[in-house]
Amino acid sequence: MKTVYGVIGDPIEHSLSPVMHNAAFEAIKMDSIYLAFRVRTEDVEKVLSGAKSMGMVGLNVTVPLKEKVMEYVELDPLARKIGAVNTVDLSTGIGYNTDGMGVRKALEEKGVLLSQRNVILVGAGGAARAIAFLLAEEGAIVTIVNRTRERAISLADTIGGEVKGVGLDELEGLIGDADILINSTTVGMHPNVNESIVSSDMMHSDLVVFDIVYNPIETKLISEARIAGAKTIDGVMMLVHQGAESFRIWTSKSPPVGVMERAVRDALK
Ligand code: ATR
Repeated sequence: MKTVYGVIGDPIEHSLSPVMHNAAFEAIKMDSIYLAFRVRTEDVEKVLSGAKSMGMVGLNVTVPLKEKVMEYVELDPLARKIGAVNTVDLSTGIGYNTDGMGVRKALEEKGVLLSQRNVILVGAGGAARAIAFLLAEEGAIVTIVNRTRERAISLADTIGGEVKGVGLDELEGLIGDADILINSTTVGMHPNVNESIVSSDMMHSDLVVFDIVYNPIETKLISEARIAGAKTIDGVMMLVHQGAESFRIWTSKSPPVGVMERAVRDALK
C-alpha cells in the first residue's frame, strides 16, 4: 500500500510540491504519493488528526496555515523561534520550519558560507523571518532592508544580536560592502516581471544575489545581477531545498535533489 504525503494550504492548486516530491519518490523507488489538499484554517486540527489516523507520514504546510498548525504540534526549536511551521512529521507529531534551511543549503551548494559574511536581506514578511533567523544562527552579519522601515526594525529586534533594520532608501549605500544580497520580497514576481529591488549599476561582481522569487525563474533582479557579473541563485533552489529538507525529515533518506530541481524547472517551463 502506498504511503501518502501531502501539502495543505489555501490556495493550493498551483503548488509545485506534488510534482517535486513525486519525482523524488519515483527516482528512489519509494511506493509513496504526494498530494495537494485545500484546507480551511478552521479545519486544521481535524485534518492533522485525520491524516495521522489514516496513516499519512508527512505534511507540508503553506499559506495561510503555517502559524495555525503550531497550535497542534510539538515544536522544533527553530520553528518555535520563527513562529511558523512548514513541515509536520505525523509519526512524531513534531512541526519544523525548513524554509531558512532551504536558503542555507542553496547557498552551500554554490560554495557560499554564511559565517561572518555581510548579508543584506530585503523584505520583512513571513519568508524574511524564516531566513533572518537562519542567517543569524549561521553567524552572518545581517541587515534587514524593507520598504516599511518599521517592519525591518521590528524583525531585527525580534532576532536580536547585531541584526540591523533599515529602510529601502539605504539599500544602495549598503550594497558596496555586502557579500550576499537576498530578495525575500514579492518584487519581480509575475505579473510584475519588470520590477527589481536593485539595478546592475548598484551591484558588484563579488556579490552573491539570491532571489527567492521563482515565477519567473529568471527575475529582473537575477538578470541585472548577471549583467553586474555577480553570482546568482534563483528561487527554484530555495523551493527545492526546503522540500528536500522535509523529505529528509519524513523518510530519513537522502533526497534526490537534482531530480527534484529538474521536476520543478520542467513544471515552470
Ligand atoms: P511573505 O510572507 O511572502 O514574505 P508578506 O508578508 O506580504 O509576504 O511580505 C512581502 C514583503 O515584500 C514585505 O517585506 C513587503 O514590504 P512592506 O513590509 O513594506 O509591505 C515587500 N514588498 C512587497 N511589494 C513591494 C514593493 N513594491 N516594493 C518594495 N517592497 C515590497
